[in-house]
Amino acid sequence: MSAEKPNFAFPDRFLWGCATAAYQIEGSPLADGAGPSIWQRFTHTPGMTANGDTGDVACDHYRRWHGDIALMKQLGLNAYRFSVSWSRVFPEGRGRVNPKGLDFYSRLVDGLLEAGIEPTATLFHWDLPAALDDRGGWLNPDIADWFGDYAATMYRALDGRVKMWSTLNEPWVVTDGGYLHGALAPGHRNRFEAPIASHHLMRSHGRAVQAYRAEGRHRIGLVVNIEPKYPASDSAEDLAATQRADAYMNRQYLDPAFFGTYPDELREIFGEAWPEWPDEDMALIRQPIDFVGLNWYTRNVTRHDDRAWPLKAGPVRQKSATYTETGWEVFPQGLTDTLVWIKERYGNPPIYITENGSAFFDPPVAENGVIHDPLRVDYLRKHLKAAHAALAAGVDLRGYFAWSLLDNLEWSLGYSKRFGIIHVDFETQTRTLKDSAKLYAKIIASNGRELG
Ligand code: BGC
Repeated sequence: MSAEKPNFAFPDRFLWGCATAAYQIEGSPLADGAGPSIWQRFTHTPGMTANGDTGDVACDHYRRWHGDIALMKQLGLNAYRFSVSWSRVFPEGRGRVNPKGLDFYSRLVDGLLEAGIEPTATLFHWDLPAALDDRGGWLNPDIADWFGDYAATMYRALDGRVKMWSTLNEPWVVTDGGYLHGALAPGHRNRFEAPIASHHLMRSHGRAVQAYRAEGRHRIGLVVNIEPKYPASDSAEDLAATQRADAYMNRQYLDPAFFGTYPDELREIFGEAWPEWPDEDMALIRQPIDFVGLNWYTRNVTRHDDRAWPLKAGPVRQKSATYTETGWEVFPQGLTDTLVWIKERYGNPPIYITENGSAFFDPPVAENGVIHDPLRVDYLRKHLKAAHAALAAGVDLRGYFAWSLLDNLEWSLGYSKRFGIIHVDFETQTRTLKDSAKLYAKIIASNGRELG
């Protein structure tokens, strides 16, 4: 008797999407009255990005969005996650609205709806208006009000058509990359600044959720990147290091959002640089949210390492594992583990996988109109199966957004790393569906059954 084929059907009304971010794809960053963002500045500072790459053109999506929606339709997506560039809408970050900037997103949303694709908007995916950075950026407590005003403007303009909003994309990356290690804009490396930036990011999140309750009628959530930490051994030192790494990266944002507290380990990690915050701040941060957006890429096997500043915790490379071009281990089980962990720790909230994907080498130009990307195909299949396993374990998973729709500017790594399921020839802007995109289309058309 042959074994029964496993059934990978996903729930009805599951969202099948792709995700992108404004600065990574749009190009034309200063068009139609937009103000510069910190990423505009950072990429134009010599030595900050691979090959000096900038987002000046990127995927030229600002002008080609119509064609890009046609590609989404071809894939059969029923949802699309994009981010709004704050400095297109408020060139100085606050005060005066730029109607042309707002109009770009309004037309994009109309185009998506016409194509039968649900638009989901992220308010902040790292491109802070440069004018606000000049006032201290995420270090200035006033930013919560600036962000709240910007958010309210977006809700008023689009909430009738956009039914799913995210406040911040990955506050951990903003503070770790932007304020602690300096590899990302605004490029600071300061143990005292990082906890302050984190806190004001989270206050801003809280303020934007509050504004949503006043102006919006649908759903709002927070997008975090979670990288589960597994101890390299059961020594007390490795176990403690794993706890620190987990607190720093995984609990630092969800704990205050759900419980109104920061994990204790942060005090140990930051020492005298860890401030005490007033109760009213914690109350502001702890606003009920409608969902958790999970960006998931890899896991980390962790050991104690005195040289790893400031965590004293470092990664252990796994000998027989596959690693992506960004050096991340392929470990699909970790996605299931993370989804179950969120369910158990935070009271079974609705979850969307708002990003998941992999950078593997693809040629710069498609030959004969095809791009074979077997490693990405394998990654996609395995991670969707891992997501399905979480559903079977009772996780309230509502959607999956592949990162990314298009090859794009991978921040300081420039165009050297390709995450798209659609290939972009950056010389000609030709788009080519990779094998992973063709597989994703089949999975979507069968609502997951194709995975079996
Ligand atoms: C970010 C994306 C980024 C991706 C791959 C996530 O951290 O949200 O903007 O391109 O990971 O590094």
